[in-house]
Amino acid sequence: MRILFIGDVVGEPGRKAVKAVLPKLREQRALDFVIANGENSAGGSGITPKTAEEIFTAGVDVITSGDHLWDQKEVMSLLADEKRFLRPMNYPPEVPGRGGSVFETKKSQTISVLNFQGRTFMQPPLENPFLQVQETVRKVREQTKIIFVDFHAEATSEKIAFARMLDGHVSAVVGTHTHVQTADEQIFPGGTAYLSDAGFTGPHESVLGREIEPVIKRFLTAMPQRFEVAKDRVMLQGALIEVDETTGKALKIQRISEVV
Ligand SMILES: [Fe+2]
Ligand SMILES: [Fe+2]
Repeated sequence: MRILFIGDVVGEPGRKAVKAVLPKLREQRALDFVIANGENSAGGSGITPKTAEEIFTAGVDVITSGDHLWDQKEVMSLLADEKRFLRPMNYPPEVPGRGGSVFETKKSQTISVLNFQGRTFMQPPLENPFLQVQETVRKVREQTKIIFVDFHAEATSEKIAFARMLDGHVSAVVGTHTHVQTADEQIFPGGTAYLSDAGFTGPHESVLGREIEPVIKRFLTAMPQRFEVAKDRVMLQGALIEVDETTGKALKIQRISEVV
């Protein structure tokens, strides 16, 4: 099974990039399943049913999220009604929405997608993902061997430790949140594909997708600034993972970083 994961889609340029590149990629790379992190898809902050729909229509099967989950109030209806939308699983139990699910590909194969958030340098402080993921994976493996995890976290140590703990139990762990693609793609000895961060999909002539000047001004003056989404050098970033369907182990992982 060939799975494409798309790093944080930032604002309209990010959504347009997915629309422009994904149909071609789906065909060229014979993709079976596409997952995208959509936490920045609405004006760079949060997600709405409208921006989610745009991403789904472009050919994405499941949207994951992270700490920007609550930035748009319309997210509540996605959490309530949209089964293809995931939030970090390690929120307290009464929080609406779901952190993982089992999906069916167009070839009627099953894949589980799980979304967790780290706790090092992250707000809000959530439940311990290391504990929760073990229990979740144990249950999910009764339904499918193909398990993809988006670990939305800041610290590379937390991300690597989380993925190493899951080696041999899930097909892939790909990190999101920093918006900076790392060059450490690898397959661990147990067969889990790993990349610390997928990067982001949107304007790269920027600071993590936002206009450069206001961010510099904020650092210079400590005064609040409006961070508009930037415009130029739009790229689609992520990772392509090939999984052996009978064992659930990863065969290949390749970083994707394409100028749109
Ligand atoms: Fe993000
Ligand atoms: Fe984030």
